[in-house]
Amino acid sequence: MSDARADADARRLGRVLPVERWPDADEASRMRWFSPRALGPRQAEQRTWIPAMVPWRASLEGEVTPAVLSWYRRFALGRPGVLVVEATGVRDVPSGPLLRIGHDRYLPGLRRLCREVREASGGRTLLLIQLIDFLALKRRPTRERFFLRFLIVDRALRLRAATALEEPECLELPEDDFRQRLLALDPSQEEALLSPRQLEDLRRGYRERVTDTQLPEVRDLPRTLPGRFAEAADRARRAGFDGVELHYAHAYTMASFLSRLNTRTDGYGDSDAGRLRLPLEVLAAVRARVGDELVVGARLLGDEAISGGSRIEDAERASLALARAGLDFVSVSKGGKFEDARAPKVGEAIYPYTGPSGHECMPTVRIEGGCFGRNVPLASRIRLALRDAGLDTPVVTAGGIASPWQAEAILDRGEADFVAAARQSLADPDWLLKTRRGHGEQVRRCFFTNYCEALDQHQREVTCQRWDRLDLDELPAEERSRDGARRLTAP
Ligand SMILES: Cc1cc2nc3c(=O)[nH]c(=O)nc-3n(C[C@H](O)[C@H](O)[C@H](O)COP(=O)(O)O)c2cc1C
Ligand code: SF4
Repeated sequence: MSDARADADARRLGRVLPVERWPDADEASRMRWFSPRALGPRQAEQRTWIPAMVPWRASLEGEVTPAVLSWYRRFALGRPGVLVVEATGVRDVPSGPLLRIGHDRYLPGLRRLCREVREASGGRTLLLIQLIDFLALKRRPTRERFFLRFLIVDRALRLRAATALEEPECLELPEDDFRQRLLALDPSQEEALLSPRQLEDLRRGYRERVTDTQLPEVRDLPRTLPGRFAEAADRARRAGFDGVELHYAHAYTMASFLSRLNTRTDGYGDSDAGRLRLPLEVLAAVRARVGDELVVGARLLGDEAISGGSRIEDAERASLALARAGLDFVSVSKGGKFEDARAPKVGEAIYPYTGPSGHECMPTVRIEGGCFGRNVPLASRIRLALRDAGLDTPVVTAGGIASPWQAEAILDRGEADFVAAARQSLADPDWLLKTRRGHGEQVRRCFFTNYCEALDQHQREVTCQRWDRLDLDELPAEERSRDGARRLTAP
């Protein structure tokens, strides 16, 4: 189907935000969205922003590959004001084809990445890298593996079994026989026997939490994480990035410390000050290590969008505290949590964007209330709180940004300082340049139906349905996905 036909169909189905008229080049040159804005020690040439998107193109050792270089080069050719490299692990532990920055051996690849982006953008795009820490996550086990291997058999479990099954012999059975007895249970009996946590491990897969302070490595996170983030930020500096974005959002370690669900009683949870303590200590360690020459910002949640989770008031408080401590920008996201995610199939890992909070994070056109600019009110509240406190810290908004006039109106109303577009930039990495040059009618519009997100969920190379089959036959193997069926970068 031609691009024009696809666009017409998408408009008819309400999948794109209509643009009655695209700006001509002269109008575009006067738009705020394409005007400069200070970002910490740097000046962004525009207030356009491409937020972090994991494309699953790193090597299994977490190294930059040629496919990673092409992915970022493609975005840089469209010359956004700011481009954020995907969530990159601060630890040096195996984590699949996710980028890592936890050791100096990653420096040569990251340096190449910075050079590639500078060259492709003509030095016009500021390049940041998102730094992430995450805790252990296991695939959902078969019942057999769970009952015969993973489940910890203790006195409490035997007592519950003896009572629930009315089988006192459960107290004395040899461990192997007891495990076989549990495996033979009808799944409807599991709830009476297993603790809520064990049930979750069985039905959703084992997942470590920041409140698991019985585990030494989790207890010690406040001691280990500031150094890890600081080292990673220093590597980003040495590699040539303009700055780092601390990942304090979604389902990962730092967001879990900030969450109202963090009940740690060691001074790093359980109160506003406790929940904020580690995020502040990480920021302080990063700043002490890299000084003022690097942009240091954070992405955090304006609303966790889960039961009992943090709300906008918590996000305002956190943003104020971090900005007072010297944070250079606040990028506001929403949801994306494990707590309400759909149970994965056996053999798969839970994915934090499958439940209601996940749908808030990457909203589709099917979401009630509509996806376009959905999260702007959160950014706006945070920006207002910062300005009321006399702070000029820039605020970034993302979520359903699909047209230049929409971005312009957000800036005009003072709801954000940078307006970010992830999926629209994936659908057409040239869309900012086309708009600036007055060729907006040529923009390939995003459908906001999350074909890309489904690929992300299964850790398959992320591509866009709008271009991944185009001219496939003409491409060499290295420019196609592993199965050869999709092109890896936009034409
Ligand atoms: C494939 C994909 C990967 C993403 N990876 C990240 C990530 O690494 N870090 C992050 O903070 N957000 C990530 N996001 C969320 C986006 O940055 C963005 O917040 C979200 O898609 C909503 O913006 P949009 O409507 O412009 O797409 C990802 C989104 C997509 C579609
Ligand atoms: S695949 Fe993703 S980026 Fe492409 S049109 Fe669909 S939602 Fe938009």
